[in-house]
Amino acid sequence: MAGGRARVAVSILDADHSNMAYAVRRAEKEGADRFHIDVMDGHFVPNLTFGPKMIKGIRPRTELPIDAHLMISDPLQFIDEFLDAGCDSITFHVEVDPAQIEPTLRAIRKAGRAAGLAVKPKTPLTALEPYRELLDIVLVMTVEPGFGGQSFMKDVAAEKLLAAREYLSHKPVGAEVHVDGGVNRETAEFVGGLGVDILVVGSVLWIKGRDMGREIRLVRALADEGYQYRLNNGKPPIPRDAMVTFAQLPKSLAWRFMTDIERGGIPVIALRGTGQFNPDGVRDYDLLVPASAAALATERHAADRTRYFEEAARWRDAYIAEHGVRPPDNQRPGMDGPTPPASPGQSTRPTRPTRPAASG
Ligand code: DX5
Ligand code: ZN
Repeated sequence: MAGGRARVAVSILDADHSNMAYAVRRAEKEGADRFHIDVMDGHFVPNLTFGPKMIKGIRPRTELPIDAHLMISDPLQFIDEFLDAGCDSITFHVEVDPAQIEPTLRAIRKAGRAAGLAVKPKTPLTALEPYRELLDIVLVMTVEPGFGGQSFMKDVAAEKLLAAREYLSHKPVGAEVHVDGGVNRETAEFVGGLGVDILVVGSVLWIKGRDMGREIRLVRALADEGYQYRLNNGKPPIPRDAMVTFAQLPKSLAWRFMTDIERGGIPVIALRGTGQFNPDGVRDYDLLVPASAAALATERHAADRTRYFEEAARWRDAYIAEHGVRPPDNQRPGMDGPTPPASPGQSTRPTRPTRPAASG
């Protein structure tokens, strides 16, 4: 996975349709972050492309996430098939029959996939307003949907990309703005400066003789430059996948705090970490949050964190009063860590000491 913030979704629309498995393998090897698959029905747009069966066919050919972009008039009719095909996210158009929009978004979310709405260049973002709470993705089209290789509509990007972030402000982590149409090394810095998360790149990658990997790296790097100098006061963006330690606590408290934090939409990873050993011989757990949400986590939970630390200190005192202090695993003979050399005739097979009864 690339460092930095921007991610490139490779559109296979202009790849060789007779050899999609090869196209997907090649793009993955060249550093694509994910795939963007343009589904067209000849009705919503004047072109025909792939169906769910094609997506199902390429699903086992790549480890990367697959985003489906449905340019079809009846998303609800086909949604189960696209979910079954193994799409990681499904984005369809807000211009379809309004009665279909909410049920389709709900079906996608119920399946545990990311749900998105796309807007054509002439559709105002306000069309998304009723669905805001159901959105993980807003896809801004910077060409008229239907074909690859068209020119980028700069004014549409300028009007909508930053504003689209606002539409996702209810999700502190994981929400994405995608830009689709005419994205390449000439336009990447501009859209990066408008805070876009995912750049859909199509036709330029499939030009004969083009170095696809270099093109992907350039687009990502230029988008991050744009972000750094236009939105981030010259500071490099926080890498999208970086996690930072937010607290270190004994297990039971760590689990409780993790639940509190996740309730607000910030994901937490709990790891037996590098912190102190508790009197029961077990290390504290590290609670990690995405670096991009660390400031928000502090704003929301700094006071709770102090309370948890105080509770941890009380728990440790109570444990010591009841059980005494137990040396850490790696300082007991026969456990992980340096083992003293065995004297002749002595068995070196580790014997697991019995643990004291688990305590709160
Ligand atoms: C157009 C599609 C795009 C297309 C982009 O309707 O939604 O995803 O593949 O291709 P380029 O990058 O050539 O504009
Ligand atoms: Zn697309």
